[in-house]
Amino acid sequence: MSTVITSVNQLNFKLSELESMPAPEKVLLVKPTYFSVEYVINPHMEGNIGDVDKLAAQNEWEHLRAAYEELGLYVHVIEGQRGYPDMVFCANQSLPNITKDGKKEVIMSVMNSDQRKGEVPTIQKVYEDSSYEIVHLDGNRFSSFEGMGDAIWHFKKRLLWGGYGYRSSKEVYDVISETFNTPVIALELIDERFYHLDTCLCILDSDTALIYPKAFTDEGLELIHTLFTNVIEASKYEAEKLFACNATCPDGKNVFIQQGCVDVNHKLKESGFKVHEFSTYQFLKSGGSVFCMKMLLW
Ligand code: ARG
Repeated sequence: MSTVITSVNQLNFKLSELESMPAPEKVLLVKPTYFSVEYVINPHMEGNIGDVDKLAAQNEWEHLRAAYEELGLYVHVIEGQRGYPDMVFCANQSLPNITKDGKKEVIMSVMNSDQRKGEVPTIQKVYEDSSYEIVHLDGNRFSSFEGMGDAIWHFKKRLLWGGYGYRSSKEVYDVISETFNTPVIALELIDERFYHLDTCLCILDSDTALIYPKAFTDEGLELIHTLFTNVIEASKYEAEKLFACNATCPDGKNVFIQQGCVDVNHKLKESGFKVHEFSTYQFLKSGGSVFCMKMLLW
């Protein structure tokens, strides 16, 4: 049975009633060896073709990798693939899950643009090697689904937040809800600069979300405010130019975020989070930052 919720009057549970899930303890990273901006598939990439400083990108990526290790996560690194300059954004090719009895499964993405479709088999191999059950969506039925770019697990709860409109289609969430036996809160995205849910919603812990409100409809905002008791808002500048909401908080305490988000960082600290700033300027040229440069898994 699938449960896809698009407005508060459809909410038939409280957060406290949902099953708990373990926090992921592994992080997958793809080396930025072949990272560059070679085409334009989101507004942030415009004017940036050929503009990536490879050494700087390598440097930025290494800092992030070291920070995940310091946080105590098991870091799994794979090589990038020539011809796939966006593969470094490895939040996009899959959506992993762990069941109540510890079974690991993953839904592979149907990438929206032809340029990125070939990334999926390489990422699938990682899951095969880690004994995940692989689930493929029917590519004829669903035009696109971009994994954890759009579908984000609530912190330690069996609940998914699913963005749709630009890179993922709404219909896909019925199948995902059924496959993972998990309710999905489906949020329509209405600003193309915030084309993935992970550009405008960052789940920090079970009660706290960091959002860019104007990326959502009123119905979506109502859902967010109903399920999170603490909603931190990012300004247009920090959300759009610094990808503040593309932060990540793997343990519900330490937040990794692009450097310079002064206002958001202040609010994060007020809410008790520990802020770690990173330079991801090279990756911002492609429309991505901290959150989408990794995949958390079990
Ligand atoms: N250039 C990539 C694209 O447009 C960036 C992806 C960033 N990923 C994300 N989840 N925000 O597909």
